[in-house]
This record gives sequence, structure tokens and C-alpha cells, in this order.
Amino acid sequence: MTSQTPWSLTDLLTHLSAMSGRSRDQARAMPGAFYTSPEFTQLERDTLFRSQWVCIGHEGEVRSSGDYFTTELVDEPLLVVRDPSGAVRVLSNVCRHRGSTVAQGAGNANRFVCGYHGWSYALDGRLLAAPLITETDGFKKKACALPTLACELWYGYIFVNLDGQAAPLGPTLAAAQPMISNYHPEQQHHLFAAEEVWNTNWKNLVENFMEGYHLSPLHAKTLHPVTPTALCEKLPDGPAFTGYRSNFNPEYPERGPFHKDLTRQEQRSDVFYCVYPSFVVGFCPNFTLYMCLRPLTTGTVGIRWGVTGVADDPTSKLVTDYVEFCKQFSAEDRLQMERLQVGLQSRHYVPGPLAPDAFEGTIADFWQYMSRQLGSG
Ligand code: FES
Ligand SMILES: [Fe+2]
Repeated sequence: MTSQTPWSLTDLLTHLSAMSGRSRDQARAMPGAFYTSPEFTQLERDTLFRSQWVCIGHEGEVRSSGDYFTTELVDEPLLVVRDPSGAVRVLSNVCRHRGSTVAQGAGNANRFVCGYHGWSYALDGRLLAAPLITETDGFKKKACALPTLACELWYGYIFVNLDGQAAPLGPTLAAAQPMISNYHPEQQHHLFAAEEVWNTNWKNLVENFMEGYHLSPLHAKTLHPVTPTALCEKLPDGPAFTGYRSNFNPEYPERGPFHKDLTRQEQRSDVFYCVYPSFVVGFCPNFTLYMCLRPLTTGTVGIRWGVTGVADDPTSKLVTDYVEFCKQFSAEDRLQMERLQVGLQSRHYVPGPLAPDAFEGTIADFWQYMSRQLGSG
């Protein structure tokens, strides 16, 4: 077989446009450039990630007034804080003096002081003091707050919209609600959070989290005994989300404690959703596992992942065992995602067919979303 010429950005956009509305049986994997082109990554970062709702964490990480953590999205430093009114705020973490980041890491504060020249800000972003600088007509403290960015909570997950132009998030996810509401994610306790960087394109990880086709082969000893590939089924999708269900092996014991509202089927399956572009979450009977993904470079993804649950003690054996289990199968995924990124660089790779809807239909949904967003070029 001859090697392929690498796809240009125009080739990719033409391909995405041509995919619009294509039937499922014609679905084929995407060309390698979808995951390896720096120009395409730049386009995703400049458009998708600035214009859409992107999840950056869970409100359980900022439980009390003054709790905060810092993160970034497409190189925008962000400061997530619980303000004294009880609201979660996402502030631009960039000092209004000469542009340093203001807060670092995570913690609890009653104000934020920039380490460079000591400008200090209230928890709602107001500038409190600019040492040795007097207010003049040209400089009013009131006009120098840290900008508050558009933020919406969905079941406790914090979504930010950098350009402030996106339509409200909630209504776009309403159709997924019947599949999720019995878990009562809003009542679950936040138990664990961690930040990682994997050497793979962000879309590989979205797709991996969202398909059951790999559960048996890749996770032969971890997930296959609970949720084998063969028992997966596709759930209804919408313009802003897709989902699937992985049913338990009938031999597998109960996984409690779970909410009393769970149906028998919900007690015996996990439900996975992707809120486009880059939030993925798995509702299990007893715990919820989530990943907020951010494209760092073409070949690296920033992951803020965590666990919430019915259980309330993060140090209990039930919780630490589950987090350990997540780390085990995540390590399998990570190794595979990094291998995938290597393979996708090849000029000899010719995309193959997708597995049936029950196993990889969610991926076809995700690509249709990408086609809608970027296809018109
Ligand atoms: S850059 Fe923050 S006080 Fe000067
Ligand atoms: Fe996996």
C-alpha cells in the first residue's frame, strides 16, 4: 500500500462538511489528521473551546465560602471560587495591573493578593487595593475587577463559556435528564479529584470514555468482569450530548449503596454521557466518575477527573477501593490512548469501519457534532 499525503486543514474541513447527516452504516473512523493536525487543534481551541460550555470541575471542590482552585482553558488562566453569597464564580485569574496570574493552586482565602506588586481582590473579583497608587480620573478601582466569566452549574458540574455568547446550557441537556435524574447526582458527595496530563489528543479520550467496544479486550481483568462489551447498548442522543449504557454481567454482585430511586436496570448498569465537546461522565449505581478534558496541545490533554458518590467519607475503604479501581482501568486506558496517538501519526493508516451502534454509535454522534460545529469551514 502506498503512503498517504498528510491531510491539510482544508481537506479535513471538507471531510467534516461531507459527513453531515451521513448514515450510520457508512460511518468510518476519522483520518489521522483529525487527531494530529496542529492547525486543526488551533481551530478547535479558537472556536469550539472559546464559544461553547466547557466543564472545568465540580462544585464539591469549592464547598465553603473562600474555597478556590485555579485551572486554565485554552491558555486562559481561570480562578474558580465560592463567593460569600454562596455562588460559584469563575474569574479571569489575570491581574489588572501588569497581567500576572493572581491565585495559584487551590485553597481557602478571604481575598486574593497578586504576588507581584500586592494588588488585592475580593472573592467576587472586585479590586480592593492597589498599593501606593491613588485613584484618578484615569484609574478607578471599581473599573479594575477581575472579569467574571459566564458560568453554569449542571448537577454540580461547573461549566464556563469563555466568550459569554453561548445559549444557556441547561435546556440543551434537558432530554438527557430522564436517564440521569434517578441517580440524583446533585445529592452525591464529592470524594476525590485529581489533575493529569496524557499524551494523546483530547478527542481520543472523549471517544474512549464513550464507547463500550473496548471494555472486554482492553479491560479484560478490570471492567470486563462487570460490564462486558457484548451487553452495551446505545442511549438516545441530542444535539449537545450522547450516551450509552453498559449492563452488568448477571453474575456480578450488587454495587451499593445506591439511591432508592434507581430502577432495577439502573442498579444493574452504568450510564455514560458526553456533554460536547469535552465533558464525560459515568453514572454507576454507587459512584459517579467524571472527566473534564482540555486540549493543551495537539498531542496532550489536560484531565481534571474525580469521583462523587452516595458514600460520604472519602477515607472509607469503600471509597478508596473504588478510586483505586478507577486508577487501575484508567492506567489501561492511558497506555492505550498514548499508543493510539502514535499510530494516528502514520501515513499508512487508512481508517476502518465503526462497530455497530451499541458499541461505537456514540463516536459517530460525536463526529456529527464536530461536523456541525466545524464542517461548514
Ligand atoms: S501584576 Fe499583579 S500587582 Fe502587579
Ligand atoms: Fe476504558
